[in-house]
Amino acid sequence: MIVVKLGGSVITDKSKPLSFNEDVSRRLADEILSTGLKDVILVHGGGSFGHYIASTYGLNKVVKPISQATPGLLETHMSMRRLTDRLVSVFSSKGLRIYPISASSIMVARRGRIDSIYLEPIKLSFKIGLIPLLHGDVVFDYEDGFSIVSGDQVAVRLALEFKAHKVIFVVDVDGVYDRDPRSEGASLIRELKIEFLEEIFPVYSGSIDVTGGMISKLREASILIEKGIEVYIINGLKPGRLYRAIMGFDVEGTRLIGG
Ligand code: IPE
Repeated sequence: MIVVKLGGSVITDKSKPLSFNEDVSRRLADEILSTGLKDVILVHGGGSFGHYIASTYGLNKVVKPISQATPGLLETHMSMRRLTDRLVSVFSSKGLRIYPISASSIMVARRGRIDSIYLEPIKLSFKIGLIPLLHGDVVFDYEDGFSIVSGDQVAVRLALEFKAHKVIFVVDVDGVYDRDPRSEGASLIRELKIEFLEEIFPVYSGSIDVTGGMISKLREASILIEKGIEVYIINGLKPGRLYRAIMGFDVEGTRLIGG
């Protein structure tokens, strides 16, 4: 079992609200298809759909009273579903047998962390040869009314539940860098030891992402390393990398490793 998180920055253009990267999504579908892999769970992020709408409504801040947040809650969820719709049509037209499942329909959170989850729809979709496609979502929360749960968190939780052997985070950069990737001399860290994780955080502290960007991705991913699950962060804008990562071939990117 492999879990692939398709970053919002790859399947959408984050600089333009509500813009879907159809060509990239089409190519990623080809890459997944050509691996022949059946036991895969796909999870996508929000990019210029979910993140854009969530920040427009200020959902990243605490909204009181909670009832004032409901238009934003609904709109953010719907915009994630619209992005799912776009992916479903591209992936299906390529022959990937996928089935969309909203995170908020099968899980609830407590203080922003996924609490309980109903796995049967995913299990049964596998039984008939379908690939479930989930997404980061606004989910109901026992304490906070609702909370935004990133696709990263969804991917990690599903990987743990299904005892995946590998999780691949597909992003719009080559991996994790030792300093700001835009600065001169920045180099890609091919193998990042989990014990040095905290040292990397200052590099990414300027993130404005509503779910925390690279830092929270690394934090989520570290949970997997502790369980012996392989973790890769690779660039989905570069052709062939997702294919190579799924197949277990040598690939440019960052691999997280235990201490
Ligand atoms: C965002 O999911 C979900 C919502 C904003 C509802 P992610 O945080 O995983 O999205 P990306 O991949 O960073 O865009």
